[in-house]
Amino acid sequence: MTSANQTSEIEYGNAGETEESPFVPLPYKIVSKHKDTQDIATIAIEPVEGSIKPYKSGQFNMLTAYRVGEVAISISSEPTSAKRIVHTIRDVGAVSHALINSEIGDMIGVRGPFGTDWQTSDPGDADYVVVAGGIGLAPLRGAIFELANQIGKKRKVNLLVGARSPDQIIYVADMRRLEQLGVKVYETVDIADSNWRGSVGLVTELIDKAVFDPSNTKALLCGPEIMIRFTARKLIESGIDPQSILVSLERNMQCGIGLCGHCQLGPYLICRDGPVFTWAPLVKDLLSQKER
Ligand SMILES: Cc1cc2nc3c(=O)[nH]c(=O)nc-3n(C[C@H](O)[C@H](O)[C@H](O)COP(=O)(O)OP(=O)(O)OC[C@H]3O[C@@H](n4cnc5c(N)ncnc54)[C@H](O)[C@@H]3O)c2cc1C
Ligand code: FES
Repeated sequence: MTSANQTSEIEYGNAGETEESPFVPLPYKIVSKHKDTQDIATIAIEPVEGSIKPYKSGQFNMLTAYRVGEVAISISSEPTSAKRIVHTIRDVGAVSHALINSEIGDMIGVRGPFGTDWQTSDPGDADYVVVAGGIGLAPLRGAIFELANQIGKKRKVNLLVGARSPDQIIYVADMRRLEQLGVKVYETVDIADSNWRGSVGLVTELIDKAVFDPSNTKALLCGPEIMIRFTARKLIESGIDPQSILVSLERNMQCGIGLCGHCQLGPYLICRDGPVFTWAPLVKDLLSQKER
């Protein structure tokens, strides 16, 4: 078992890739495991026979729990040249349960990387507002470290994190490390306990605290779709261009490569055209329609 801090210090990344079929999972070994909350754990994996191709922040892998099944899980490590890849998984069903109850040394299968990314490998001089709800921080972890490690004197990077309660916040040690790198971290919970020193309320209320130049700001959002809709609305009211807002979406997946149609959202396949989309004009109206 590692601490959250140890998990964040592992070298994660992309080495020694192979040209395997997109349907054949490569064997990876679990090399560390950290329990983030009662039902969320973070695993680091290393290749045993060949690695997946290089990935970008925001992409996902299809993970196989042998003899149980396969699920789409976002890549949570920062892209580097290292072989280790990190995934954070919530225990909600058979496959996720099997994955997070695997032990160090156990093997899992990996296909990927798939999908679009947060475009944070070359962030330019824009300010950033990164907004996460609950486990929505997992697909953003690589991007926020990428931004933090390239933080210039001019650029401001804000991380706004919302959770139901303090014990539901993941990557606690990472957030202290991000603050040391210059990221402004703001946290809020729906229900506080007696030790909580952060805000209480909706994550959208943190936008007023963040410091950014709306004429040159990009926003990255991941969490429940209702949170994404209200956050995008508030960011647009704050003056951010709707086309500078990127959101990551989830749907049930099967093939992960645009063949089966399981992940359709309007005219898009989330696995192929997403999971990261521009808020406007791409998905704004699709999410609104879904909730009517
Ligand atoms: C692009 C993409 C990235 C993803 N990234 C992650 C990630 O980083 N970490 C992660 O834990 N999951 C992630 N998911 C969700 C993941 O793919 C699975 O849907 C989830 O792990 C449940 O699979 P299961 O087979 O264990 O449960 P299932 O048997 O599919 O579901 C069991 C029960 O849980 C419910 N359920 C299914 N999914 C969720 C959910 N996400 N939240 C709450 N209830 C749910 C179902 O409705 C059902 O009632 C991602 C999905 C996509 C499409
Ligand atoms: S999961 Fe098969 S098309 Fe997207």
